[in-house]
Amino acid sequence: MLSVVVLISGSGSNLLALLEAADNPLYPVRVLAVGSDNPAPGLAHAENFGVPTFVVEPGRFESREAWAKALLANVKFMNPDLVVLAGFMKILPAEFVSALSPNLINMHPSLLPDFPGAHAVRDALAANAQVTGSTIHIVDAGVDSGPILAQQSIAIPSGISEGDLHEMIKAVERDQLIDVVREIAEGKINLSERAQ
Ligand code: GRF
Repeated sequence: MLSVVVLISGSGSNLLALLEAADNPLYPVRVLAVGSDNPAPGLAHAENFGVPTFVVEPGRFESREAWAKALLANVKFMNPDLVVLAGFMKILPAEFVSALSPNLINMHPSLLPDFPGAHAVRDALAANAQVTGSTIHIVDAGVDSGPILAQQSIAIPSGISEGDLHEMIKAVERDQLIDVVREIAEGKINLSERAQ
């Protein structure tokens, strides 16, 4: 059984998909806790599944480093096998990443290395891209730059809004997340090897 802490910042639809998958005893993953950098609406999903939550807000700390240290202490308290950034919208300092590496993965709504950063869906539309997608990767010291574990492409319908395109991508991301975390649990994806 792979134990997981999930970090979110927003609606937590990907978190919900993972919680629902983990509700099936045949799915080899247990969500130990869910953390956030704000009182995110998605935390309610964890509460509905009886999973503990924690909020560590940057505004309550003197520096980004102090905030990240407190966030890391909360994560480490749970002693998870894996930490999943599922819509966690803050960039984490190198000390946080190296303390958890390679057992720290992120999901991103583009076909990386195209359109990294916080506005991937908007940037793909602004570039008139025909295709975008979803990516899950190991987090490294850069922004959305670590080794890629899974990707799926999605054709962009002409005239689609940013919000509708993001929803299309999230529908793909949810299954991708469930599959990748299962493969890590089953040893089919070896994060130490993939991080080389
Ligand atoms: C997802 O598209 C994820 O890739 C990105 O933020 C979004 C989170 O959506 N980093 P949700 O909060 O899981 O609904």
